[in-house]
Amino acid sequence: MNKTIAKVKNGIHGTIVIPGDKSVSHRSLMISALCDGQTVHVKNFLRSADCLSTLEAIRALGVTVKENEDNSLDITGVGLQGLQEPQTIVDAGDSGTLLRLMMGLLAAQPFLTTFTGDAALHKRPMGRVIKPLEMMGAKIVGRKDNTLLPITILPNEKKNFHGITYEMPVASAQVKSAILLAALTAGVEVKIIEPVPSRNHTECMMRAFGINVETNGNEVVFHPAERLQGPKTIEVPGDISSAAFWLVAGSIIPNSSIVLKNVGVNPSRTGILDVLRDMGADIVETNRYESGGEAIADIHVKSAKLHGTAFGKDIMPRLIDEIPIIAVAALFAEGETKITGAEELRVKETDRLHAIAEEFNKLAPAITELEDGLIIKGGLPLKNSEAFSYDDHRIAMALAIAGAAGEGVEISHPECVNISYPEFYDTLSNVQI
Ligand code: S3P
Repeated sequence: MNKTIAKVKNGIHGTIVIPGDKSVSHRSLMISALCDGQTVHVKNFLRSADCLSTLEAIRALGVTVKENEDNSLDITGVGLQGLQEPQTIVDAGDSGTLLRLMMGLLAAQPFLTTFTGDAALHKRPMGRVIKPLEMMGAKIVGRKDNTLLPITILPNEKKNFHGITYEMPVASAQVKSAILLAALTAGVEVKIIEPVPSRNHTECMMRAFGINVETNGNEVVFHPAERLQGPKTIEVPGDISSAAFWLVAGSIIPNSSIVLKNVGVNPSRTGILDVLRDMGADIVETNRYESGGEAIADIHVKSAKLHGTAFGKDIMPRLIDEIPIIAVAALFAEGETKITGAEELRVKETDRLHAIAEEFNKLAPAITELEDGLIIKGGLPLKNSEAFSYDDHRIAMALAIAGAAGEGVEISHPECVNISYPEFYDTLSNVQI
C-alpha cells in the first residue's frame, strides 16, 4: 500500500528522541560476542530490520543475547575462539554492514559459513572485502568470481593468517571494519590506509574493549590482543543519519523549531551538520558528552533560509548516507547545489543517484544526474505526485520530507523505512500541531 504524506501546515515542533545508531548497534553485537564470558549491557540498541538480522546471525553463532523491554540487550560473550558453526545459511537480509563485517569476523574460524541476503544485497560488490581478507589468509568462495552473494567462508586456522598493510581503493568503513575484525579474531597486526577517513565506530568500540588501535590521519594500525575485556555497558548514541531527516525538515518547513535528543556527533559522521550550516541552517548543539569513545549531543534546529552549496569527495565519507536528504534541502534552497565525488551512492541499497534523480524530478524537474553526483536547482515549485522508494529506506524518508515541506507525496513501497527507522512515519505525524 502507498503512504500518503500531506503538506505540513504549521511547522514541526517538539522533541524527538533519536533511535539508536545503526552502525554502532551492529558493532555492539559483534564485538561484545567476543568477550570472555562477560555480559555486556547494550542500551538504546536499534530494533530495526537490519540490526535484528545481525542479532539473529550472532545467535546462530552460539552467542546468548537477552532482549529487554527497554530496547537494551544483554550479550554474553564467548571469547575470541568461542564462536560456533551456524547450523544453517546466515541471512544478511538487506544489510551490507552485517554481511561485510561478519565476513571479517568469520574469516579465521575453524568452521564453514554461507551467507545469503535479499535481492538488492545480491547485486552489491563484495569483492572489495573478499580481496583483503584473502590477502590475510582467508578462503572465500562467491558468485561471479568471488564478488557477489551467495558467499561461503571456508573453515580455516589462525596459523594460516598473517598481517597486511592494505591501501584501500575506496573509503569504506565496512571494508576497514571487516579487516579489523579479521585481525582481531586471527590475532595478527594490520595497517589500513584509506583515501579519506571513513566512520571510526569499530576503532572506538575496540578501544573501549581494551584493544590497541591507533589512528594517524588516514592510517589505522591494529595490534592483536589475547582476550577482550568489555565495558559493563555500551550506550548506543542516536543515529545522526536518522536525525538528518529532522535537521532538514526543521530547516526547510517554515515556523519549525525542534530539539533532537541524544544524537551521535562523532566527527566522522557530522558532514551533514557542516553542509547544512554552510547552506545557512540554524543548528545549535548542547549538552555534549562522551560515552564509549562516541560523542553525543542534543541538537536544536529552527527554520532558516537556505542557499545552494557545492561539496565533493573529501567530505563524502562523513555524509555518505545523507545525500538523499541533503538533496531535499537543496530543492528548497536558493540557487544551485552541486554534489560530486559521490559515485559510491551507485552501490548502496539501490543506485541512489539514479533513484534521487528519477523520483525527485516527479515532484519538480530540478535534478541533473552526473556520473559521480547531482546538480540540484533550488527554489522550483513542487507538485504533489506519486514516487517510488526503490525499496530503499533513505529514499523513502527523503521523499516523505520533500512531500511534507512541499505539496505532499504518495510513496509507493513505503515500508522499507523499517530497515533503519521503524517509527519514522509516526514521528512525522507527532511533530505536527
Ligand atoms: C556503514 C558504512 C557506510 C554506510 C553504511 C554503514 C558502516 O558504508 O554507507 O550505511 O556501518 O560501516 P561504506 O563503508 O561501504 O561506505
